[in-house]
Amino acid sequence: MKAIILAGGSGTRLYPVTIATNKHFLPIYNKPMIYYPLSLVMLMGIKDILFIVNPEDLKDFKKLFKDGSHLGMNIQYKIQEKPNGLAEGLILAEDFIGNDNILYMLGDNVFFGHDLIKIMQSAREDIEKNGGAYVFGYSVKDPERFGVVEFDENGNVVSLEEKPEKPKSNYAVVGMYFYDNEAVRIAKNVKPSDRGELEITSVNEEYLRKGKLKVKLLGRGFAWFDAGTHDSFLEAGEFVATIENKTGLMIGCIEEIAYKNGWITKEQLLELAKPLRKTEYGKYLIEVAKGESNAI
Ligand code: DAU
Repeated sequence: MKAIILAGGSGTRLYPVTIATNKHFLPIYNKPMIYYPLSLVMLMGIKDILFIVNPEDLKDFKKLFKDGSHLGMNIQYKIQEKPNGLAEGLILAEDFIGNDNILYMLGDNVFFGHDLIKIMQSAREDIEKNGGAYVFGYSVKDPERFGVVEFDENGNVVSLEEKPEKPKSNYAVVGMYFYDNEAVRIAKNVKPSDRGELEITSVNEEYLRKGKLKVKLLGRGFAWFDAGTHDSFLEAGEFVATIENKTGLMIGCIEEIAYKNGWITKEQLLELAKPLRKTEYGKYLIEVAKGESNAI
């Protein structure tokens, strides 16, 4: 399986903050927003990653992640000329995807929860064995801001709607999607929505029509933030700060994950910590390298 992380878009819901900078570089507490989805991909053991980026941001993304080899990974970039919608990323990634299955992540989504990686791994196994698509629902107070999934009384998915005025449930579809290789072909047939975008919800609807969509609900033990508005951005930062300061363990620390995955050596980790040594982040990396962090 290969992973694609969507990191383009216009970020207009975070204006004026994002007039001059791409939202994915903004800090969710002590690290850039984009570290959070990237860390999940890494925790899945996936080394091949494609970032979809705006033309003007490519240079900065390359400054941050280079070719990924310092993390023991293979990181590539693909330019999306205009924010034409989430489904366009699948089309742009066609060559990168090849014959593989896909983990498709939104760059502004932050997740936290017990056994999240186990749940993601079981979705991956399901897709690798049975094909189709696998998405996740999460109960929110403001479903009209999201893709919304409707269920019948037996818990079967009946419909999906993108930002409905009158949501049929409180379950938002979160920004983490598992697809078989068909997704590229499906995305190519998606027509622009009323707001002029190729919607990822249209891709998911096509899987639903074919009876090949699975939806798993993430319950109360999970936290999910779409950090694309001022309030949710702040909430996500406060949440990460609270958990990290309580536990002494970091969420979304990509260097730690690369080390624990065995993708880089202790010496490499210490080298990565050097320019960060004046920060708590850098000190944490040194603790991890010395085996002083109690992280498991
Ligand atoms: O966060 C979950 C929601 O994400 C889902 O519930 C919705 O179904 C889905 O459409 C999406 O809605 P948003 O309106 O929140 O998407 P947004 O425009 O914020 O873009 C999500 C991410 O994808 C963000 O990191 C920017 C990136 N992006 C966006 C567009 C429109 C791209 O890379 N290219 C694009 O063309």
